Amino acid sequence: MRTQVVIIGGGPSGLLLGQLLHRKGIETVILERKTRDYVLARIRAGILETGLVNMMREAGVSERMDRECFVHHGTCISYENEMFDIDFHKLIGQNVIVYGQTELTHDLYDARDAVGARTIFEVEDVQICDADRDAPYVTFNSGGVEQRIDCDFVAGCDGFHGVSRTTIPDTVRKDYEKVFPFGWLGILSETPPVHDELIYANSDRGFALCSMRNENLSRYYVQCALTDKVEDWSDEDFWDELKRRVPEAIADKLVTGPSIEKSIAPLRSFVSEPMRWGRLFLCGDAAHIVPPTGAKGLNTAASDVHYLYEALVQYFQDNETHGIDHYSQKALARVWKAERFSWATTNLLHRFPDQSEFDLKMQRAEIESLHYNEVAQKWFAQNYVGLPY
Ligand code: FAD
Ligand code: PHB
Repeated sequence: MRTQVVIIGGGPSGLLLGQLLHRKGIETVILERKTRDYVLARIRAGILETGLVNMMREAGVSERMDRECFVHHGTCISYENEMFDIDFHKLIGQNVIVYGQTELTHDLYDARDAVGARTIFEVEDVQICDADRDAPYVTFNSGGVEQRIDCDFVAGCDGFHGVSRTTIPDTVRKDYEKVFPFGWLGILSETPPVHDELIYANSDRGFALCSMRNENLSRYYVQCALTDKVEDWSDEDFWDELKRRVPEAIADKLVTGPSIEKSIAPLRSFVSEPMRWGRLFLCGDAAHIVPPTGAKGLNTAASDVHYLYEALVQYFQDNETHGIDHYSQKALARVWKAERFSWATTNLLHRFPDQSEFDLKMQRAEIESLHYNEVAQKWFAQNYVGLPY
């Protein structure tokens, strides 16, 4: 087989890149380790920045998203019984939308099917070869048969546990990491959202988040210990704990119900540099992870896709290598800002095991300046809706 770009990973980064390139007449093959149903069953992000929304439109896959999404003009932050709104629209004239990663991925798979582009599922032993030479190729096993695809470029969109990042030699690659001493226990329930905006809650008992997917589907999280197991938490325990962490007025109107999904995610910040090695480019979680507090994971994956898409189009249409040569530098400049926002909001809203009374006072003072200081709110709003590409 031969194609122009082999995309490793059929998550949102790989699918979006594939769809955008297809619209410019650039051929791709996507290799995905899991089945399509498995990929679509993963419950992950829910908030999309305008940059990602615009790319979905450019890729011609925004019809259902535009129809079904909720537009959010702001977000709420609570501490004990206090709650305030950060009004993005009033502060900076922008907004975000609520549309689940699952739905977005679904739309992208449907679009890929419709144009007949090739996706190979359940591949094993993917290896990227000669990425530092002029003629790279990828080998893999599919249905027990060894396969090889020759290509011009490889896009490593295979998430944190993929093979792409580790293909870059240790002598070239440098990883930066901070692991947080807690996780998020999340549930999905077929209940109406408790509020019309998201609520990020700081409380003595730890962080909580009230989010949503649609008018009858809610997503809630509570900060939990890294040693906690999903089985330790009954639905009743979860709802009780959530109610203790949000303002009373919110707890009183919370509609509870059975969970239809429950999972624990550890929180980490991680960046791997560089994001390009020869003809291999890393995109999304393959190169970086953020703690979910700032809703930046999927959105930062999308900004990488934007820079890589532009670079590849320049190369194939104009034989111009400037975009490719500067991809890593450009993508990383934005990645580090998203890392900083995610790290800062995580520090602002969580309880840490070793926090001193002084640390708690500092955290409280910072939340109060966000509550009462418009400059601080503007900074938050600009970062939350997403920095420009
Ligand atoms: P992924 O979605 O990880 O996709 C990578 C794909 O590559 C997967 O389908 C995988 O099966 C495939 N793959 C892996 N290895 C190989 C291989 N060797 N060969 C072929 N295919 C391979 N972000 C938020 O903003 N909010 C959230 O609430 C949130 N919750 C999250 C919860 C969890 C448990 C995780 C892991 C992430 C969460 N994120 C969240 C982050 C967000 O979902 C990711 O940033 C986003 O999925 C990144 O997309 P991606 O396509 O780069 O990577
Ligand atoms: C979600 O809805 O899953 C979600 C929303 C905002 C976040 C994290 C997760 O910051």
